[in-house]
Amino acid sequence: MTENNNQVRIFDTTLRDGEQSPGASMTLNEKLELAELLESMGVDVIEAGFPAASPGDFECVSEVARRSSSIIVAGLSRAVSRDIERAGEAVNKAERPRIHTFISTSPVHMKHKLKMGENAVLEAVGRSVTQARGLVDDVEWSAEDATRTEFDFLCRCCDLAIASGATTINIPDTVGYSHPEEYRDLFERLINNVSNSDKAIWSTHCHNDLGLAVANSLAGVAGGARQVECTINGLGERAGNAALEEIVMAMRVRKDAFQYQTEIDSTKLSRASKRVSQITGFPVQYNKAIVGKNAFAHESGIHQDGMLKNNQTYEIMNPEDVGVSATSLVLGKLSGRNAFRDKLESLGYDLDQEALNDAFARFKDLADKKKDVFDEDIIALVDDQLSGADEAVSLNALKVVAGTNGPQIAEIELSNEGEMKSASAEGNGPFDAVFNAIRAIVPHDAVLELFQIHAVTEGTDAQATVSVRLSEDGLVATGKSSDPDTLVAAAKAYMHAFNKLEIRRKKVKET
Ligand code: KIV
Ligand code: ZN
Repeated sequence: MTENNNQVRIFDTTLRDGEQSPGASMTLNEKLELAELLESMGVDVIEAGFPAASPGDFECVSEVARRSSSIIVAGLSRAVSRDIERAGEAVNKAERPRIHTFISTSPVHMKHKLKMGENAVLEAVGRSVTQARGLVDDVEWSAEDATRTEFDFLCRCCDLAIASGATTINIPDTVGYSHPEEYRDLFERLINNVSNSDKAIWSTHCHNDLGLAVANSLAGVAGGARQVECTINGLGERAGNAALEEIVMAMRVRKDAFQYQTEIDSTKLSRASKRVSQITGFPVQYNKAIVGKNAFAHESGIHQDGMLKNNQTYEIMNPEDVGVSATSLVLGKLSGRNAFRDKLESLGYDLDQEALNDAFARFKDLADKKKDVFDEDIIALVDDQLSGADEAVSLNALKVVAGTNGPQIAEIELSNEGEMKSASAEGNGPFDAVFNAIRAIVPHDAVLELFQIHAVTEGTDAQATVSVRLSEDGLVATGKSSDPDTLVAAAKAYMHAFNKLEIRRKKVKET
């Protein structure tokens, strides 16, 4: 089905499966920004959401579709007529629309979740794919929990989906249960046993419950799949999905072992990872492959010595290949606007004039406080600005009295839907005082589940990145912010999480 038999399509589901991670909600503007970044990176298919899930999801998929050019835009739907209609409506403005419809096929899902027998599931497969094919030419069908499905039944479902018009067949390892040999074997057997298997592209979709998602995806490709479903930073339900950056770089670095190509511009991987982390508030672990802070750091003397002699001694890819620049020392307080703009461009930012002016003013402010400004500082500063841009409640001013002689007191001013409000509160320590002052202005019952502080760079004048997770009535939201003042970063991170929680609350009300 593909023009070049070694070409593998990258299907990114950060906006759909990724957003299903507890606490990873994104605003419409953030999703649109990510969709643009993913398209510019060379992703083949973007799953922009689940249109029937809520009006917000519908709007997001339609807007991603309307703004797309060559990328395929997919909307997810259950095997339910109303879902398929909504998915069709949402994607129809895309140059290349796709409906992705799914139903569970494993005994455990059919019995306990669907309460349907095999015949009813088969009937739903034929009906849903036929309906979707009546709306768009490009239909993907997924067998949810495929890896725990009885093989003959899976073959019958796939056969029927293809006969009904599906052009891509996805075989998800929904619960992350499979292992590479088994998953590869499953594709080989399906492709050999489904009579019309050559009429569809076969796709992997692996969850990471056993830490095998990337290995399983690559094994699926070896078994004949030519589409890989994945997410930036491996975001997704529970332990997440296969990480896009790891799949792309494994195929690139080990061309000898995996003789497949993707269209991904790998120099954008680092930027995509940082944006997704900032937007969702999910920090990337330091030792994460490809995009972790330490992925190209060499600590031991023996390694450093080897690197100085020849970087191939301890590096299998160049940092530049994934968009990490070799030297990250950049600008100082005497640097001008042109140098700053060039730096932003080299880091992958394309800001309009107003955003550029704002970023430059923040940079000057930072350079006054901090002697050396590194790439990481600029990225933290601009990402923070972009994330705060369309928030309903945001920080305007903060003053904190802290120290050995309590009580610690915070005086805060917030903009609430454009209206300035101030409050003062005491706390058990300065952070508690800040959060109490926020609660005095916007009362809420959310519980602070997680609070983490990291330094963006080395040095006592480093900016701090604070991550905050709030939870309320089973809803979780995460916020992240950076500032040279840790208390300011904490207040902004709390506000990000609070605003995201509000989005989650609305989404729940809409469904
Ligand atoms: O994990 C899964 O099975 C899914 C399907 C909806 C494709 O995400
Ligand atoms: Zn999934």
